[in-house]
Amino acid sequence: MIKTSNTCRLVISISGNGTNLQAIIKACATKKFLATVVGVISNKSHAYGLQRAQNAGIPTYVVDHRDFNSRTEFDAALKEVIDELNPSLVILAGFMRILGGELVEHLLGRIMNIHPSLLPNYPGLNTHIQALKDGANEHGATVHFVTSKLDSGPIILQKRIPIETNDTPQNLAKRVHQCEHKIYPRVISWFADGRLKLLKDVVYLDGNPIDNRHPS
Ligand code: GRF
Repeated sequence: MIKTSNTCRLVISISGNGTNLQAIIKACATKKFLATVVGVISNKSHAYGLQRAQNAGIPTYVVDHRDFNSRTEFDAALKEVIDELNPSLVILAGFMRILGGELVEHLLGRIMNIHPSLLPNYPGLNTHIQALKDGANEHGATVHFVTSKLDSGPIILQKRIPIETNDTPQNLAKRVHQCEHKIYPRVISWFADGRLKLLKDVVYLDGNPIDNRHPS
């Protein structure tokens, strides 16, 4: 699994099932993908994603938020584990805790998240229910750099899907998940290839700013 020492070192934070983690592990197993998952961190000891990581021989760590009196203490413990793994990139993949400003600042430009909506629409939870309630005709997934404002960091890539008349939150969620599994590995490979940068709130791909008003 570990490739050469100069591949991009990924640390992935999860809280649950870990299907995005699985998609990233699969991508890392391909030759052209210049990244290796060096550790998976969960705030929940029973997250199934931990099992997925272990099955792939990836070291796992549990930092349970309930063991700390404050978010500052939780963040400090998380930072210690992350820094010890010396990541090139931290990937939030269904990590259900909000990180404090100090930790985000420490990782700025090398931490990203995936969100199940076309941000800035529907930050937070229950995105599929909200999209259906609104009668939206499209929905999708967004990969963005993390900043201290929840689900509001600079957008890197979105994938859109049409909402069909008979869609339920469940089947919509399933289709959005399929989008996520495509776009997250793609964005990570851009980063690993040195093509993607965040400079002063602007995302650059191959040296050109990405137009966040009309991400594709
Ligand atoms: C995904 O829908 C992701 O967008 C959101 O949490 C979910 C995680 O799914 N942040 P999984 O654990 O990767 O299957």
